[in-house]
Amino acid sequence: MARLKIYTFPDGVLAQKAKPISHVEKTYHKLADDMLETMYGAPGIGLAANQVGILERILVIDTEYDMTDVESGELHAEGSEVVGGKIITNRKPIIVINPEIIHREGKTAIEEGCLSVPEFTSEVERSQKIKLQYQDIDGLTKILSAEDLLAVCIQHEMDHLEGRLFIDRLSPLKKDSVKKKLLVARREKEEE
Ligand code: NI
Repeated sequence: MARLKIYTFPDGVLAQKAKPISHVEKTYHKLADDMLETMYGAPGIGLAANQVGILERILVIDTEYDMTDVESGELHAEGSEVVGGKIITNRKPIIVINPEIIHREGKTAIEEGCLSVPEFTSEVERSQKIKLQYQDIDGLTKILSAEDLLAVCIQHEMDHLEGRLFIDRLSPLKKDSVKKKLLVARREKEEE
């Protein structure tokens, strides 16, 4: 497994639409493993292929894992894995290919962040419950019912596949001011 580079705003790859995967070939196992390692290592609860510079409709999610510092001296639980100096336990990774939301219900808004917009968080309005149809890593069609955090996470990652960031869902005024601030921060960082 390998940690991949995470592209950040305003990189153009984040604003492009990802293409459907017509055949879920074996090569996607490695990509999915690398994306999961990158997500756990960051750490984050979701990662879409656009964020690692790949314009294909695949994303990985895990909203349930626990993370402790290796230095804390805790015994490694069975099935745990050390990623980026952290012990990851209770992993429930979901690999999602060619996702489609086939049902939506209710509204919710929780504070969202993004590995591609690391300096900013904001509430965004999303559907509270969704039914998702997708293909798993073996190419099998699956249906997943999700609500609250998992539902929000899926919608956030699916936005990435459309070339949309969560900051694009803010009001036009707020979006402009946030983007300006992020661009200034980016420039200052580059000049350092
Ligand atoms: Ni994101």
